[in-house]
Amino acid sequence: MGLNYYQIKKNILKSRKLVIRSTNLAGSGHPGGSFSMAEILGCLFYNHLRYDPKNPQWDERDRLVLSKGHASPGLFSNMAVAGYFPETELDTLRKFGSKLQGHPDLKCPGVEFCGGSLGTGLSYSIGIALSAKIDSKNFHVYTIIGDGESDEGQIWEAAMTASKYKVDNLTVFLDRNFIQQDSYTEKIMPLDKKLDSENLSEMWKDASRWKTGDKWRSFGWNVLEIDGHRIEQIDAAIRKANNTKGVPTIIISRTIKGKSVEHMEDNPAWHGKAPDTDIVPIIFDELNSQFMISPSIIAGDMSNLENEIKRCVNGRADYIHLDVMDGQFVPNKTFDFNKIKELRPLTIIPFDTHLMINEPQKYLQNYIDAGSDMITVHAEVTNASSFGEIHDTLKQNQIGVGFAINPDTELPEWFIPFIPSIDQLIVMSVVPGKSGQQYIESTHEKMSRLNVILEQNNFSGYIEADGGVNLQNIGSIFNDGARAFVGGGAIIGQDDVRAAIRDFRNEILISRRGALLDKAHKLGGQDLVKKWINLHVIGEKQKEIQKIAMERGYL
Ligand code: DX5
Ligand code: ZN
Repeated sequence: MGLNYYQIKKNILKSRKLVIRSTNLAGSGHPGGSFSMAEILGCLFYNHLRYDPKNPQWDERDRLVLSKGHASPGLFSNMAVAGYFPETELDTLRKFGSKLQGHPDLKCPGVEFCGGSLGTGLSYSIGIALSAKIDSKNFHVYTIIGDGESDEGQIWEAAMTASKYKVDNLTVFLDRNFIQQDSYTEKIMPLDKKLDSENLSEMWKDASRWKTGDKWRSFGWNVLEIDGHRIEQIDAAIRKANNTKGVPTIIISRTIKGKSVEHMEDNPAWHGKAPDTDIVPIIFDELNSQFMISPSIIAGDMSNLENEIKRCVNGRADYIHLDVMDGQFVPNKTFDFNKIKELRPLTIIPFDTHLMINEPQKYLQNYIDAGSDMITVHAEVTNASSFGEIHDTLKQNQIGVGFAINPDTELPEWFIPFIPSIDQLIVMSVVPGKSGQQYIESTHEKMSRLNVILEQNNFSGYIEADGGVNLQNIGSIFNDGARAFVGGGAIIGQDDVRAAIRDFRNEILISRRGALLDKAHKLGGQDLVKKWINLHVIGEKQKEIQKIAMERGYL
């Protein structure tokens, strides 16, 4: 039984933090490639791999082979989060006598392969996968290779071999981050098409340049191409791979080296370098500030919600917010689970179902069956007993658990014990009932009060802001602590959903950079502010951050 979307996200965050902490303590290591594969490992560890951390040699376990072994901090962090050893053991990374070295080693129980010498993990994986067939075992082999690693001829020998022997119990991920130790992969040995400048966005913009999939297809592989940072895409690809018989599968995952830490992203320098101690707390704050945009489709054409879903997909929404209104809890009626069921096949983007209905416990199963990924119910129509039931049912069904409070509602006393285990808290900033209303200003003050209670009670979920969120207020709502943002009128109400979502993200980014500058200034004054800014060497970031720092009087 795997974890739900939110829980997977939380574990990925935990393991990213462990990578930062452990490489910093070691003074060396590979954060860049650990972060580009973080979501892939998260989906494997918390939703697909079969393993028993108490019995690492369990015969039936799936095998995970990290062929790009230098990214061992990423592997070890997940092994710690998964329970193979205590998280504190990561403090010994790369230390003499530790079982956690710079490259994975079999002396660490649970590690399947001594990575480090690049190019060999795929051949090794084929061997284990074939042995499973000979022994009539059901386990699956998952292997992660790098794009720099694909310079090795042995990768292509293995590609031929797996295809010849129809090794369909093997799924390979190519962590396609376009960067290897010395530079950009496309400059050193192009897998796709030669990159002429230092500008990776050239590759991203033009999909016709991507040839890697064709190469693997020509070797007879089943090729899936995905965004390697989107959990739902990784998840769907693994399922497809598992259902593909007679050929091996490679999931070409477009990723970003150093993903989640702006100054590391797309920067070859972070292939193998540890963050400095004074920068670590800033990185932690940055990691804690990942955010999601969730357009609310009721702000669009209610007679063609199918089209609204398509607009969300084209707009690269993180979730899709579905406002269910029953004409009783709120005066309006929108749609119910039947509509959600119809919309479900249109996309794999997570459905963020917001139930503004009476007696949600009565209808919960319908909304689960319809394909919701998270379900939020209201404080005003639940109590300890009904919410307890809802909470347990959702967790059992691998669905995110959400709780919503109206502008006039405070967190009920009975809800406090649930705080550590819920995934999402919606703080309504309009009286629910329709989109297009004005944000209620007192919500800012309410959020600061809530933050204290949430922190005292070990809240580890995401606060979602819902109602009247727009480009003018989103920055301050982010500062209040919200990490998921619903946009009705301000996103779906706009002609260009993609531009609206991009603008939402940019506004949040400005706020986030400001908060990180505040942190740097608080910890180390102007010197640390300058040091942190100077780490941002790729693209236009540095100039933009400098501007924010100047406005704040730090430069
Ligand atoms: C309000 C709903 C919101 C709303 C958002 O009852 O829960 O999701 O539709 O729309 P805007 O952003 O326009 O307020
Ligand atoms: Zn809503």
